[in-house]
Amino acid sequence: MKSSTIADLLSKENILQDIEIKGWVRTFRANRFIALNDGSTINNIQCVVDFENTDEATLKRITTGAAVHIKGSLTESQGKGQSVEIQVTSIEILGDSDPETFPIQPKKHSFEFLRENAHLRTRTNTFSAVMRLRSSLSFAIHKYFNDNGFYYMHTPIITGSDAEGAGEMFRVTNLDAKNPPLDENGNVNYKEDFFGKETNLTVSGQLEAETYAMSLGKVYTFGPTFRAENSNTSRHLAEFWMIEPEVAFMDLAGNMDLAEDFMKSVLSYILEHNREDLEFLESRLLDEEKTKPQAERSDMSLIEKIKFVVDNNFKRVSYTEAIDILKNCKPNKKKKFKYIIEEWGADLQSEHERYLVEKHFNCPVILFDYPANIKAFYMRLNEDGKTVRAMDILFPGIGEMVGGSQREERLDVLKEKMKALDIDEEELWWYLDLRKYGTAVHSGFGLGFERLVMFATGMGNIRDVIPFPRTPQNAEF
Ligand code: 4AD
Ligand code: MG
Repeated sequence: MKSSTIADLLSKENILQDIEIKGWVRTFRANRFIALNDGSTINNIQCVVDFENTDEATLKRITTGAAVHIKGSLTESQGKGQSVEIQVTSIEILGDSDPETFPIQPKKHSFEFLRENAHLRTRTNTFSAVMRLRSSLSFAIHKYFNDNGFYYMHTPIITGSDAEGAGEMFRVTNLDAKNPPLDENGNVNYKEDFFGKETNLTVSGQLEAETYAMSLGKVYTFGPTFRAENSNTSRHLAEFWMIEPEVAFMDLAGNMDLAEDFMKSVLSYILEHNREDLEFLESRLLDEEKTKPQAERSDMSLIEKIKFVVDNNFKRVSYTEAIDILKNCKPNKKKKFKYIIEEWGADLQSEHERYLVEKHFNCPVILFDYPANIKAFYMRLNEDGKTVRAMDILFPGIGEMVGGSQREERLDVLKEKMKALDIDEEELWWYLDLRKYGTAVHSGFGLGFERLVMFATGMGNIRDVIPFPRTPQNAEF
């Protein structure tokens, strides 16, 4: 007989059938009741063991963490809290656990402890729910783009260019670190390196995505990106996944519409398809909230927050308006901000972004038209000569979720900008070619996937929404 999953069994009406199931023991109580989970759903299924007809040695091996193969019949449950249960007719231990040393005991563990046991943390309800949601969101993302006529493009992981110009890259080399070849000036001679030049892990697939937008029209990338920024925060990873759509003939307003529609669509998808996991995470958060002082408690539950984003328009605010709000706000006047906003041109820190979305607007905000000198070289210069058609989407509780822009499509303006920033034209000759041959208005954005998963799950630390986080001083697993 083919094994069923718990999700299958719980969704079926017809009971009293012979079934087979495999999973891991969460708990075993009174030598009789196994709470079994197989990852297919947040719910365990109760398996009732006939202990009088099961040998002593087998009963002893039914411990938390063990893998078992159970045959039995599905019956209406006598106990509370579940509709059906399995009357076990035979149980085979597939893999023993060790109740003394198995790290995931049936009790509350701290997230720090579970991070150290990231290889086993998906045996808990919280992490299995988070990772099922992560998987669903990925699917919803591909579905959205596929349904809307976008092509999925695989941009290179190894690249010679620094798309963001921030210089926060991991070098890729196979030179001997102890004894690298040197040039006549005593510098490392990358001409002798594997690719014959300096290369690094990509910080963004955007520049390559632009090349395909300018032929296929609408494309997107969804892949890993790498940043060697030494920021040990709850919102930064050294390796994270980014979704980057890029669209020809689309301006900044179109870009905002796309980003908003896209985010609403993928969040609607999980509201529809991941209800049980969301309800579990919501109740987890409610318990956590109870430990906080009243003033710090959120007035919306997890599902309410997601619905709020789906049902309400994002607020669109220019950088200039935002600066006016910030200059005159209480925390700025009372010098409560670490960085006081004094004048137009200031770069916004996360304290400012959070004030705008959490205190002032209380909803997702699209900030646009930033000063040119605080944004990347490729952004379209506005007619005022000092702002660029950039947009950042800020979310309550998260801060920056999306960064994007209309791209500079004018060859002369782009060249001038690159010159001013000391970016080598020869390195980006192919990028400039797009402006030489059939240039056109085009735009795109990058959404940090883990930040979206944080928002959708209510998890407070980005390390808890990616299977094996890479952060400064940490690349375990
Ligand atoms: O704003 P960023 O740097 O934009 C770009 O890389 C553009 N090339 C995207 C584009 O227009 N195609 O990064 C985009 C998003 C940020 O808004 C943030 O959500 C996320 O990527 N992000 C990070 N997420 C986790 N850890 C980090 N270290 C991140 N750095 C950026
Ligand atoms: Mg950004």
